[in-house]
Amino acid sequence: MFRFAWWLIAALLTFATAASAETIGFSQVGAENEWRTAFSADMKAEAKARGINLLFDDAQGSLDRQFAAVGRFIAEHVDAIIIAPVVVTGWTPVLKEAQAAHIPVFIADRSVDADPSLFVARIGNDTNLEGRLAAAWLAQASRGRCAIVELRGTPGSAPAIGRRTGFAAVIAQFPAMRIIRSESGNFTEESGQRVMTDFIVSTDRLKGVCAVWSHNDTMLIGAIKAMKAAGLRPGKDILTISVDGVPDIYRAMLAGDANASVEVKSDIGKYTFDVVQGYLHGRRDYPKWVVIPTDLHTPQDAAQMLERRYGP
Ligand code: AHR
Repeated sequence: MFRFAWWLIAALLTFATAASAETIGFSQVGAENEWRTAFSADMKAEAKARGINLLFDDAQGSLDRQFAAVGRFIAEHVDAIIIAPVVVTGWTPVLKEAQAAHIPVFIADRSVDADPSLFVARIGNDTNLEGRLAAAWLAQASRGRCAIVELRGTPGSAPAIGRRTGFAAVIAQFPAMRIIRSESGNFTEESGQRVMTDFIVSTDRLKGVCAVWSHNDTMLIGAIKAMKAAGLRPGKDILTISVDGVPDIYRAMLAGDANASVEVKSDIGKYTFDVVQGYLHGRRDYPKWVVIPTDLHTPQDAAQMLERRYGP
């Protein structure tokens, strides 16, 4: 009888925990590179560790698919919605829809161009600062004289806008630093390689070019392949600077093919769910922007970064 009672209590507790688990919808940009897939994996692992029922949707880079996913989350009456938006624009109607359904929305990673009263908070990095850090490093490495080719991220996305703006603001202070070519490589390796191949052809094998500035590491990895295929020596004759801090960029630094990268943390599930769950449990004092810090790394600490961030 006693044993039966314990069994019953345990079963009821399990049921109560399962019944109280929050259901959270997460609309992710896509799986365009190593940084993004690491971010998705971290969000899924963190949700699992917290007993959250995460409805994950991969928008495959399509804004329409994101809108559809958020619409489904609203129809399913989830407890909260997290959005990593493909681009900054177009979000007002769907955010208003979520607000009308009393479902709190949180923006993770990339930002949106919408009235901040339509979402609780954004948990993410400072893309303008990333651009400024990259340019400041390059100004120092080139002693303020540099013809630059730029690989831009997805048009209309917050990191492509912020990084370009921040970088431009710093090099504007150096009369002998200028961007001589600029194209979007859509944050992918394949496009980075294709765009760089075009640059190599149109500049007579990067004649007079001092550096490649890439809005992310993955495009730069593609660009490094293109430069090596053309017999050029990235990291030695051509300086490289990019953003993200993915394992491959540290490996490229250790091989002497890359010079610096501004790290953007992809393991932000902890910070994101802390805010979401805190809000769902009644906390109301979150700032509109919970800033994820960022810093710059070079071959000097590439080995430590690889080990510290990604294990031995
Ligand atoms: O929004 C973050 C950016 O998106 C990363 O820098 C990039 O690699 C990704 O595609």
